[in-house]
Amino acid sequence: MWLPWRVAMERALYGENGFYLRERPSGHFRTSVVASPVFAEALLRELLAVDDALGRPPSVDLVDIGAGDGALAAGITAAAPPHLRARLRVTAVDLAPRPARLPEEIAWAATPPESIHGLVIANEWLDNVPVDVAEQTPDGPRLVTVDPSTGEERLGQAPEAADLAWLECWWPMRAAGERAEIGRPRDEAWASVAVRLARGRAIAVDYAHRADGRPPYGTLTGYRDGATVAPVPDGSCDITAHVALDACAAAGERTGAVTTALTTQREALRALGVTGARPPADHARTDPRGYLHALARASQEGELIDPHGLGGFGWLVQTRP
Ligand SMILES: C[S@@+](CC[C@H](N)C(=O)[O-])C[C@H]1O[C@@H](n2cnc3c(N)ncnc32)[C@H](O)[C@@H]1O
Repeated sequence: MWLPWRVAMERALYGENGFYLRERPSGHFRTSVVASPVFAEALLRELLAVDDALGRPPSVDLVDIGAGDGALAAGITAAAPPHLRARLRVTAVDLAPRPARLPEEIAWAATPPESIHGLVIANEWLDNVPVDVAEQTPDGPRLVTVDPSTGEERLGQAPEAADLAWLECWWPMRAAGERAEIGRPRDEAWASVAVRLARGRAIAVDYAHRADGRPPYGTLTGYRDGATVAPVPDGSCDITAHVALDACAAAGERTGAVTTALTTQREALRALGVTGARPPADHARTDPRGYLHALARASQEGELIDPHGLGGFGWLVQTRP
């Protein structure tokens, strides 16, 4: 059975007994959420800024899309100061079942609220939105099809017109053998979030590339038990591909009246006070326990802003005032 990658990925991740309906992401790879509570603390500062910009309304939303085990939503909620927490409406959105230990004050849903006033965060969601893969041939792009049981590939038909237009605009392939992941479903997924944002900010954080640096052979990858594996879409592993965040940004802008910033996690977190600065060495003598604690925190901050690791992730920030 040969399937286009988008169908194969959809079935493998979200179909009957699919990977994400069975497994929690933290068992298989290390996201910023898993790496350190510093990430949730920084996003709490972002939420406080959004709340202030909205004039501290009676109700403010925090929406975590692709929430996994809900740890980010739970971490931000737990750390929120009383004046905010009393007004906070928290929704964790995922296709997986509600995690058993999620605090009751966090709603669990398969789709985001219809109208959002506040902050939306989608950390490593878009890279798991299924995409088709195209390969350039002397006759133009063709879809790559895959045998889900082996991962073996062969070329299928030409992509549909809307996908060809997307490729030409966002990821033009020139030489035969080049490959591209067609990001149109991610653009649509992001636009479906942006359109629900009545007032506030929506942030997507992900492995990303831009038009001036697309990887010529794509980025399709599998993950299982903390290791990269061949992307065989049989439901046994995560299947992911980096995100054309600039295309998602344009799709968000088409929903109207948003301002856009595209940056790296390193820059975004530094602006939120995450610097990785080590404590002064003489604190080791005056307050050894405090020094060790500050040192551990500096190392976690360092991991989150490492330009060759999580710090190199893209941040798409769209604001509707
Ligand atoms: C890589 S995990 C990220 C988990 C968490 N945000 C973190 O950073 O640790 C991606 C999550 O997105 C969820 N997901 C994928 N497509 C979705 C959709 N259309 N709606 C809601 N959740 C989705 C998956 O079920 C999975 O839990």
